Amino acid sequence: MSRRKLFPASLRLAAVSCRELLVSRRSVRNFQDRDVPDEVVREVLETARWAPSARNAQPWRVVVVKNKELLRRLGSVAPAAAPLSRCSVAFGVVVRPEEAPVTFLVDGAILATYIWLSLHAHGLGGVWINTLRRPEYAELLGLQPSEVLVALIAAGYPAEQPAPKPRKSVEELATWIR
Ligand SMILES: Cc1cc2nc3c(=O)[nH]c(=O)nc-3n(C[C@H](O)[C@H](O)[C@H](O)COP(=O)(O)O)c2cc1C
Repeated sequence: MSRRKLFPASLRLAAVSCRELLVSRRSVRNFQDRDVPDEVVREVLETARWAPSARNAQPWRVVVVKNKELLRRLGSVAPAAAPLSRCSVAFGVVVRPEEAPVTFLVDGAILATYIWLSLHAHGLGGVWINTLRRPEYAELLGLQPSEVLVALIAAGYPAEQPAPKPRKSVEELATWIR
């Protein structure tokens, strides 16, 4: 079969856009003072729910926080959490270890990444806030003792366009085994 048939123009265009989406994502930490409509939040999650997980266990749920007072309190837990105080909506990625005892953290990290990329695809910005070291976040969100908060993604309409941060080159990144 010809390459053209295997990889038609529409798919090639989609591949270029997908690469652009991946390469142009940034950590956005400053947001416009503007609500993200619930329909947009749902669209973001409609895309992100296609995240893969081991054995397709999907050992997760997402807590969507739009309450300003709660966002302010979450943002006060640690200096690195400050974007939560400024964002319009936050996505708490919650996993249940008993549903995927070996892979729950990996599964949750993939879902959080999908949410981050989905935000970008919908013209929104976001930043991953590390929640793994502080129990306060889970307490503020009222999680069950059996649940782990893998990440909070602070999100909103971007008020900045951060420059790209350096990355390892492919040569530094990859070791080949032939
Ligand atoms: C697991 C993880 C935890 C992170 N935790 C924080 C955080 O707590 N606060 C923050 O402002 N940024 C946090 N970040 C964002 C990183 O600093 C950022 O992704 C990195 O510097 C690369 O920049 P870029 O996302 O713009 O490419 C985190 C990112 C990841 C993947």
